[in-house]
Amino acid sequence: MSTDAIVLLKEDHKEIRRLFKAFQEAEEGPASKRGKIVEQILEALTVHTYLENEVMYPEVRKLVPDVEDDILESYEEHHVADVLCFELFTMDADDERFNAKTTVLIENVLHHVEEEEQEWFPKVREALGRNQLQEIGQRMLDLRPKAPKTPKTPTAPKALKKSLDAVVA
Ligand SMILES: [Fe+2]
Ligand SMILES: [Fe+2]
Repeated sequence: MSTDAIVLLKEDHKEIRRLFKAFQEAEEGPASKRGKIVEQILEALTVHTYLENEVMYPEVRKLVPDVEDDILESYEEHHVADVLCFELFTMDADDERFNAKTTVLIENVLHHVEEEEQEWFPKVREALGRNQLQEIGQRMLDLRPKAPKTPKTPTAPKALKKSLDAVVA
């Protein structure tokens, strides 16, 4: 099995897209089913965002200064998704805003994933060697069991603060 960081993250993206599709197919169905799918979406996004925030983004930011702006934009996109995830986490599936909020989350995340895959992951692949990408991927695999599985209050994007502090220091 490959431990290449970009391969691993794209596998997550694939699973996330699959869950989005499952939601869209269940959108008109019973609230309990939609709620279950959204639970899975929230878990997949929480784990994935954590691994990117804790490992991939800071590492890439350090090693590939060219994609700094992409990373900063990505932190903000994660933050918006975090807010929506947390709100959905605290909302009942039969709330009249549940489907609308999930749809906005899906639109935002698809846009974000598209930018990662089309715009800056290729630059990272070009700039970093195979070994470096495998090391980063291994660190994400090691951290994965410790990743939170449910959304936390999104007031303090820890990784963002950490990386900003690093710039100021
Ligand atoms: Fe991301
Ligand atoms: Fe991602």
